[in-house]
Formats: sequence, structure tokens, C-alpha cells
Amino acid sequence: MLNDLEQLSAAARAELKDAADLDRLNQFRVNYLGRKGVLTQKLNSIKDLPPEDRRQAGQALNRVKKELEELFAQKEQELQSGAQAKERGQKIDVTIPGFGLQRGSRHPLSIILEEIVDIFQGMGFQVEEGPDAEDEYHNFGALNFPDEHPARDMQATFYLDGGLILRTHTSPVQIRAMSKLKPPLRVICPGRVYRCDADTSHSPMFHQLEGFMVDTRITFVHLKGVLMEFVKEFFGSEVKTRFRPSFFPFTEPSAEVDIGCMICGGKGCSACKQSGWMEVLGSGMIHPNVLKNVGYDPEAVSGFAFGLGVERLAMLRFRIDHIRIFFENDLRFLKQFY
Ligand code: PHE
Repeated sequence: MLNDLEQLSAAARAELKDAADLDRLNQFRVNYLGRKGVLTQKLNSIKDLPPEDRRQAGQALNRVKKELEELFAQKEQELQSGAQAKERGQKIDVTIPGFGLQRGSRHPLSIILEEIVDIFQGMGFQVEEGPDAEDEYHNFGALNFPDEHPARDMQATFYLDGGLILRTHTSPVQIRAMSKLKPPLRVICPGRVYRCDADTSHSPMFHQLEGFMVDTRITFVHLKGVLMEFVKEFFGSEVKTRFRPSFFPFTEPSAEVDIGCMICGGKGCSACKQSGWMEVLGSGMIHPNVLKNVGYDPEAVSGFAFGLGVERLAMLRFRIDHIRIFFENDLRFLKQFY
């Protein structure tokens, strides 16, 4: 009897291990441990053994029975907790707090660009766009850049295979828009521009907004009026403005517009290089050669043009001192805007 006991114990353990659910586990209990189970039967038959064998057989049987009962209890717990987990998984607990969806936010440059476009649309300007990959004629030639102008240099301009370049400013859109449309014109051209340049205030890709107006008898007074109105709307009416003579091949005369430094209030600081002023845009009266290049008669029409740096305005508005942060996609920065 003790020989089959080891076999029986091994078979029982194997069966217990295989019991994949509570039904099969119960079947196991009935078969082995229950009132009519094999072990119980064996215990009951001890009395039929010769008296000298009974003690040893009884001890062995009780040991196996105890072991199996322990294993059974373990397995039962395992299967029960598994079944509970499954049940939990299938039920929807409507009291659990939901996972909120993270809401995106607009890029600070989009916010600023939209605001600028809005201000000029309010003054009757229409939006025109041109290609980022531009030809040299539209980017330079038609804008009255002489052939040897340093801006054409490989150091400043990105040249593409196949003869095109990445536009270095939005001024070529002046040429495209004037060639397509007829005066009177009030046009703005927002877009990306590219220059081989990188430091705290320069990025190889940045944004400009070009604007121009062409009609009979447009003068510098219109240029000043429109730009001062823009600066007031964008920065507030208390901000100081100054026009400083400058040079661009495609405007004559030319002026750069500065505003009183927002960081130090005009006293002079590192952001304004101690001058108390910050440059925000370039502008001027459209050069007669440019008007001729698009087929206009410079005796009959005149115009002004300006180009402003969108990053520059955003940096002033949000008091950001490094241009690269706009393009690093750092969520800690981007999440501060809405
Ligand atoms: N295109 C000039 C620049 O990128 C800006 C400008 C535009 C100046 C229009 C005058 C008129 O610096």
C-alpha cells in the first residue's frame, strides 16, 4: 500500500497543477480529499491491515493528505484571485476618476503671427504667399540687388541643387504679388525664411512678415502712419518709436524702426546693447527699379514696403532672450501659451 501511495501522491500533485479553473479544482477535491475520495478510502481501509503495519501506513497517509490539502488551499486561493481580477476587468467601474485628455496649445509664434496679420487685415491688407524654395531672380535680381551683393554669398544664402535657393527674406513675394496683381495694392506676406546664421538672436530658419502698399501718390507719410499704428496696436500706445535711416537695395529712402526697449524702459541694458532701443523692422519706399521690374510705371505709382521679424516681436512680447527655444519643442516652454 505504501508503494502506491507515492504514485498516488505524484498523480494528485500533477492533477492539481493542471487544474485550470475552480470547477476542476473542486473535482480534484472530490476525487482525492472528499468523503469518498481515494485518500479517505485508504485511511478507512487501514483497519484491514495487519496491526503491526497500521501505524506506519496511517502516518504516511496522513502526511500525504496534509500535503495535498495545503497545496489544494494554495491553488484555490490562486484561482480565486485570478477569477476576481478577471471579473473586475470585465466590469466598468463608473466611480473611477477619468483620465483627462491633455489639451494642446498654440505655438507662441503662431499666436504672434496671427495677431500681426489681424492688425494689418484691420487696415485693409490682403494676405499673399510665395514659395520657400525661390529662384535668385525673385530673391535678389528683381529686388535690385547687384550681382556682387554680399547677401548672395554662399555664406549667407542656402543654395539648393538645381539652381534654386531657400529665400533669405519674404521680399520676393513682393515681386510675385505685384506681378500678379494690379495697384492699388495693400498686401502682407507671412512666411519662413532661411539664412546661414545662428546665435542667441539668429536661427537658420525664422519667420518674417512682409508688407507693402502701392497706389498713386503713396508717400513716406503713409509708411510712417501705417507702421506707427501697427506698433501702437501691437505693443500698446505708450511705447516709443523712432525711424532711423538705413539701406536696402529695394527701397529708397530706407528706414529701420526701433521701439523703446521693453526690458529696461530705455535706460540701456544688455538686451538693447545699452542703446535703450530695439530694432523691430526694416522699411522704405519701393525703389523705382523694383516697380519697373514688375512692369509698373514709377512715374504713375509709388509704394512703401516693410519686413518685420516675427521671432523678434515674439521675444519682445514674451520677454524671451533666446531664439532657439521656439524650435526646441520643449513642452515645459510650449505649455505656457494657449
Ligand atoms: N527684406 C528685408 C530684410 O530681410 C526687410 C525689408 C523689407 C526692408 C521690405 C525694407 C522693405 O532685412
